[in-house]
Amino acid sequence: MKVIRSLEEWRDLRRTLEGSVGFIPTMGALHDGHTSLLQASVDHDDVTVMSIYVNPTQFNDPKDLANYPDTIDADLEVARDMGVDFVILPVYDEIYADGYRFSVDENRFSRELCGANRPGHFTGVLTVVMKLLNIVRPDRAYFGKKDYQQYVLIRDMVETFFMDVEIVGCETVRERDGLAMSSRNKLLDREGRLLATCFNRALALDASDAEISSRLEDLGFDVDYIESRGPRRFGAVVVACGDRTVRLIDNVEIKQVDEEVGEVA
Ligand code: PAJ
Repeated sequence: MKVIRSLEEWRDLRRTLEGSVGFIPTMGALHDGHTSLLQASVDHDDVTVMSIYVNPTQFNDPKDLANYPDTIDADLEVARDMGVDFVILPVYDEIYADGYRFSVDENRFSRELCGANRPGHFTGVLTVVMKLLNIVRPDRAYFGKKDYQQYVLIRDMVETFFMDVEIVGCETVRERDGLAMSSRNKLLDREGRLLATCFNRALALDASDAEISSRLEDLGFDVDYIESRGPRRFGAVVVACGDRTVRLIDNVEIKQVDEEVGEVA
């Protein structure tokens, strides 16, 4: 496995690669959710490329960025074990050589759900993903449905801008108790971790969004939103852990009895 820190080095290398290239962009702190994407690429592509880049433009809360776990040595070990061929570790000055003068803006779905209370978040995500796709030039790029809104926005961006890459959506990987795996789970204390178990269970209940929301508030969550769209219910909650807060998101497929099943976005 080769670790690459300069984009020029990667570009030279990219020209020499043969066969299909699969790409998994991440922000590190790898867990089994990430490794499921790596596995999908290792299974389907001749070459697997992963990037680790904690993208500052998608963090609207500086504390969230400062608290983001950094486990680079362990991450490289995981990537090596999974059979990843290249890990790209870009730096801000190369990714944002323009000082974030240019960005990719979506003005509908990105303003809803997670976008409603996180202004600029999805602009940061779409911008860095477009840059990374243009740098890596993969045949396929893999994204988790745990971040379903992100997956839909990236899929639609690629279609809109006629980008020559297949976007593959992969199922959410969960802990045994149902909690969706997330790098932020590491920030939960014991009490917060116990409470977090209730989040996914509540989302799947046969009840209205409002009922689920008030049940979660009663349990001790600070609810950002609970919202059903087509066949899916989306939610974001905040768990208080000592002097910090941890934001969790999830989505589940729900059966719709009377309503017509529509599109998510
Ligand atoms: P990150 O949170 O590191 O996630 C990287 C990829 O792993 C994303 O596609 C995410 O949806 C997927 N993933 C995370 N948890 C998962 C789980 N439990 N099951 C399945 N897939 C999971 O998402 C980002 O980074 C960033 O926004 C990024 C796309 C890298 C742009 O900066």
